[in-house]
Amino acid sequence: MFKAPRGTADILPEEQVYWRHIEGKAEDTARLYGYGRIDTPAFEDASLFTRSVGEGTDIVNKEMYLFKDRSDNELSLRPEGTASVCRAYLEHGMDNLPQPVKLFYFADIFRYERPQAGRYRQHHQFGCEAIGEGSPMLDAEVISMALNFFSSMGLMNFSLHLNSIGCKKCRPIHMQKLKEYYDPLKKGLCEDCLIRLEKNPLRLLDCKKPGCQEAADAAPKSADFLCEECHQHFQSLIHYLQALDISYVLNPRLVRGLDYYTKTVFEIQPLEGGSQSALGGGGRYDDLIAMLGGKPTPAIGFATGIERIVLNLKSQNVVVPGPAKPTLFIACMGDAARIEALKIAASLRDANVSVIVSTGDRSLKAQLRQANTVGATSAAIIGDDEVKAGTVMLRNMENGEQQEIQPEELKRLLSSQQ
Ligand code: HAM
Repeated sequence: MFKAPRGTADILPEEQVYWRHIEGKAEDTARLYGYGRIDTPAFEDASLFTRSVGEGTDIVNKEMYLFKDRSDNELSLRPEGTASVCRAYLEHGMDNLPQPVKLFYFADIFRYERPQAGRYRQHHQFGCEAIGEGSPMLDAEVISMALNFFSSMGLMNFSLHLNSIGCKKCRPIHMQKLKEYYDPLKKGLCEDCLIRLEKNPLRLLDCKKPGCQEAADAAPKSADFLCEECHQHFQSLIHYLQALDISYVLNPRLVRGLDYYTKTVFEIQPLEGGSQSALGGGGRYDDLIAMLGGKPTPAIGFATGIERIVLNLKSQNVVVPGPAKPTLFIACMGDAARIEALKIAASLRDANVSVIVSTGDRSLKAQLRQANTVGATSAAIIGDDEVKAGTVMLRNMENGEQQEIQPEELKRLLSSQQ
């Protein structure tokens, strides 16, 4: 027997109500904030991600699904969505449009991670990117959009974690301070952190190993080394968030797992579980478009993990709208009745009535049991007598009442109820 590959999951019909609820709210949120939808390919040149997400990151070093196609092109399944959107922004000359250009996407994302609750090798994101504007006012808008999205789904018990990691002017000073701080502590660090110390000391703040966490608690904070511009940007953002009544947790250890961030970084974390189970995250990436060959263009965005939202909706017992039930179930007995059933179903669907026709030749009892299981509000029963009379027997599935009715009358009745 085959099984779905480790770290992947089937989304079964009974789960779909959650996915439709989330996607519907995501589209509503995107519309309210003026974002247009973009879809990009599931794979790209691997170097797009190496360059943007960064050589020293876990995503690039350990998690990309890399492959060569039959023409020897080095490709990767997308391990995130931002780089692809920036590539499309440049490729399609969106830098010539009025800025910022605001785009949203639903994307399946592939990372070779250690699977656990809420952590998959293929997961799905709803993401938003606003490209071409450097004002902290946009940061506040993007953050409030992310929070409104979560509230609109009925989710509670999450908090906004916020930090600024500075820019290429001030970050090297913080990095140097981190190196000086960590050098004497090397003995207590995990193997990954020893490498991180050489490649990107910022990453040490993010390590989840207990020994490294202790060391990170007292490590120098990026906010203490911001240049004037980054400091002002962060202060203005806080000012806007306060004006919008948005509460936040200043988290000096929030650095995010991707290298392209500058200035503002943020995460939406459930009250229990911390950054390992973040519902969403994002930040500014003012250097990324230039790194990909464009002119310097500031930008900010965020993405949320749909599987994690589903987990939280369930654990918080949020009631989501149920699936649409068929209006009519047609039960039929005998060859002539089967033909009538198909014809009546086609005519009802033309009138926008949802119909399930019983196929095969089970007993009437079995067919009506199925009508109950699928939740049809009524059933039309067709046997030899009905075929002869040119009628159907309409049964109310709630109270069992039956009436003989002409197909045209049935169509008028059901289509008026839509
Ligand atoms: P990220 O934090 O790597 O950011 O992923 C965004 C969200 O995707 C996470 O907060 C989490 O909810 C979900 N997620 C990540 N990995 C997994 C996984 N293995 N299984 C299930 N869910 C997962 C980004 O990807 C950035 N591109 C976000 C961004 C957009 N920054 C700026 N614009």
